[in-house]
Amino acid sequence: MKWLNQSLFRRLLISYLFIFILGFGLIGIVTSISTSDYITDQKRQDMLQQATSINAIIHHSNVVTDDIKQTIEQLGQFLGSTIWIIDRNGQIVATSSMQELFMGEIMDDALIEDILAGKNRFQVMNIEEEDRPMLSVVVPWGTSEEIYGGIILHSPISGINTTVRNIREIIQWAIISGLVIVSVLVSYLSWSISKPLKKVEEAANEIALGNYKKRVEYHDSVPDEISALLYSFNRMAEKFHKIEEERDLLEERRNDFIANISHELRTPLTAMKGYLEALQDGLVKDKESQQKYYTIMYQESEHLNHLVDDLMDLIKLESREVSLDLYYVKVDDVLKKVFLHLEQAIQEKENNIQLLIPDNVPQLIADSVRLEQIFTNLIHNANKFTSNGSITGEIEVDSSHLIVTIKDTGIGIPSHDLERIWERFFKVDRGRNNRGRRGTGLGLAIVKELVILHNGMISAKSELGKGTAFTMKFPLYEQRKSN
Ligand SMILES: Nc1ncnc2c1ncn2[C@@H]1O[C@H](COP(=O)(O)OP(=O)(O)O)[C@@H](O)[C@H]1O
Ligand SMILES: [Mg+2]
Repeated sequence: MKWLNQSLFRRLLISYLFIFILGFGLIGIVTSISTSDYITDQKRQDMLQQATSINAIIHHSNVVTDDIKQTIEQLGQFLGSTIWIIDRNGQIVATSSMQELFMGEIMDDALIEDILAGKNRFQVMNIEEEDRPMLSVVVPWGTSEEIYGGIILHSPISGINTTVRNIREIIQWAIISGLVIVSVLVSYLSWSISKPLKKVEEAANEIALGNYKKRVEYHDSVPDEISALLYSFNRMAEKFHKIEEERDLLEERRNDFIANISHELRTPLTAMKGYLEALQDGLVKDKESQQKYYTIMYQESEHLNHLVDDLMDLIKLESREVSLDLYYVKVDDVLKKVFLHLEQAIQEKENNIQLLIPDNVPQLIADSVRLEQIFTNLIHNANKFTSNGSITGEIEVDSSHLIVTIKDTGIGIPSHDLERIWERFFKVDRGRNNRGRRGTGLGLAIVKELVILHNGMISAKSELGKGTAFTMKFPLYEQRKSN
């Protein structure tokens, strides 16, 4: 079975040729045998008819007259056959071709018996002098009342054989041209299968080398199974490409993140180092200035602490390491508590607080500490960017949501930056951040993660110079279930 290890083309070709030759060979053999039988049978019928007709012409006489001799000679020529007349003893008494050498010869007993019984008889005779075999038919000579002997009609079998040979030749040619056609078809078939497979192989190699954009192109003409394979292959390549892109994006974000962290850490550290050096070198002499420097350094280290805390929080949130402590929470109470905490800071910036809270706010299943963190961040931001204005905390309830809005009348956010405020470290126009407003740029990123963790959504609306509003929507489905 060595050929089984060979190429698709050879396997297909050999299988097809084998099937074809076997099939057509069998058909050829069966056809030639049956046509030969059919033609022989037909020939026999014709000869029987002819022999019977000869009898009809000569049965008026029970002896072979010259007249009869002449008639059978003419009939023999006309029919292209040899006619013998035998008597009741089986002796040849006349021949159509004046073959004197057969005269007087005696036929075998079985034949004579059949004739005398009035039966017809067929047989293949090998006659001396005639080098080809003859098909012979024997019919009784005479009438139904009296049989005088027999009439034997010989016709060469070669006519039949020629016809059969012709048919065989036609079949041979059919097989040969069939083989050519089969070879061409098999070539096309194996080409149509192996070509896309080759393409898949090439594409797989390219993908293995890192070209994830590589796809296999194909026509609708490829067989279904192959097109299914190509489709799946392309889908797999697509998946690889996506994974690669996601990996690249992740990598890029990670690098950005690290660059941002370094920058954010370096800023306070550089400042602290500068003040420390100045103090160390004794450049700051008076107590008051020294105190000022210490205060700044303390603030910087506080800021660093803040930064590291926020960073850790965000990293944990983004890697889904944070799980919520869920209980029924009175959101209105949490909101009021946060405002109370920040009341002093808010008053310092001469902002006033507005609370719009309806009666009977349904309880939300939430983590109250995290909810407090969300509100603190938002209210802290509102206060940071607002002075001599107002900060509003509002709660609304619709059929399936609890909606909390923190609104201010501060400086607002330019519309082109509104999308970006959720990014880590993003701060609108760093220049406008004075010391009092200094932040880490991580607050809103943390808020967003926390809201999402609560299955909620958060959005921001803002108008430059007029104010900003952050709206959160938390699903109340647990409440709905219990109702
Ligand atoms: N209420 C607000 N009014 C105006 N700008 C805001 C407000 N809240 C957030 N921003 C802008 O979005 C940026 C990102 O906010 P945040 O993530 O909380 O960082 P941080 O407060 O540390 O600067 C802020 O730096 C500020 O530019
Ligand atoms: Mg903030």
